[in-house]
Amino acid sequence: MRPPVLNSATKVYIAGHRGLVGSALVRALRRRGLPDPVVATSAELDLRDRAATARFLARESPDVVVLAAARVGGIAANAAQPAEFLSDNLRIQLAVLDAARAQGVPRVLFLGSSCIYPKLAPQPIREDALLTGPLEPTNSAYAIAKIAGIEHVRAVRAQDGLPWISAMPTNLYGPGDNFHPTASHVLPGLLRRFHEARESGAASVVVWGTGTPRREFLHADDAAEACLHLLEHFDGPDPVNVGTGTDVTIAELAGLVAEVVGFTGRVEFDTSKPDGTPRKVLDVGVLRGLGWAPRTGLREGLESTYRWYLESLALPEQRAVRGLEVAQ
Ligand SMILES: NC(=O)c1ccc[n+]([C@@H]2O[C@H](COP(=O)([O-])OP(=O)(O)OC[C@H]3O[C@@H](n4cnc5c(N)ncnc54)[C@H](OP(=O)(O)O)[C@@H]3O)[C@@H](O)[C@H]2O)c1
Repeated sequence: MRPPVLNSATKVYIAGHRGLVGSALVRALRRRGLPDPVVATSAELDLRDRAATARFLARESPDVVVLAAARVGGIAANAAQPAEFLSDNLRIQLAVLDAARAQGVPRVLFLGSSCIYPKLAPQPIREDALLTGPLEPTNSAYAIAKIAGIEHVRAVRAQDGLPWISAMPTNLYGPGDNFHPTASHVLPGLLRRFHEARESGAASVVVWGTGTPRREFLHADDAAEACLHLLEHFDGPDPVNVGTGTDVTIAELAGLVAEVVGFTGRVEFDTSKPDGTPRKVLDVGVLRGLGWAPRTGLREGLESTYRWYLESLALPEQRAVRGLEVAQ
């Protein structure tokens, strides 16, 4: 079956539309002048509830489903609650993918994460590194759930011939990110800590580890554009990496965040804390080959994310949603 093209008649359901990726997808559809997607918050529809999810998809009957709903968190959250990360993500995926299959939804984009790849995968990480070695233990529960999702997409393709696809984004950041002091990812966590240090006049900010690990960061708006590009131009059983293909050290990132926030104190590294893997960057050759490249540079992306963060601090409803209500 040929994938449906995105146009004004295409009904898109974005699962997780209030999240970092989901909200960027809503913006990306609007930028293209496409109709607003079908959406539901987790309070309106708990996607772990199979029966409710099946009823919702039967009622809405979308042409395209983007599965951007998941239990997502940084190292600390993954390490503290592996059972929830495994169970919630498996249940969300099973409910949504089974319901979409029952409806014969022609096009599904399943979003995984670069943590599905082995801890010691050769860098930059190619898609065919999947299942070639042991996972990073701190987020293996989450990664196993995501790998099950990739396999689910492959299985439906093989059995039903539906052109469902999977995308594996690198570390993402941007407006709508989660700034929770313990549950957030490294970049929003640094933005918040440098901001609070500047506000309080602190002399220094302590960053975990040696600062030498290299990591890749992609703006969520670029990730959303890449997802739409894949929906329009890709059909295949293997996941496609979504990233920039370039990396920075954590020390460079911290320096950039300090500049953007206007923090002029010292940056100290707590070398008693773990570094994680020395380098993690995706090979984005497949996505580039499909004619897509990111547009947002890291400094520019950090500046707009920081502007959004400052605006959000002034909005009580944003504070409630994205972890901003939690004091350090
Ligand atoms: N953030 C990253 O750096 C990153 C990197 C690579 C891949 N990804 C992938 O991208 C996808 C989206 O991540 P994200 O960063 O956008 O996450 P996020 O900001 O935490 O948003 C997740 C969304 O999922 C929804 N959700 C969670 N549990 C739900 C449930 N039980 N029922 C219904 N909705 C539920 C939430 O809905 P409500 O807001 O309505 O509660 C929320 O909007 C995930 O699959 C993740 O693995 C993210």
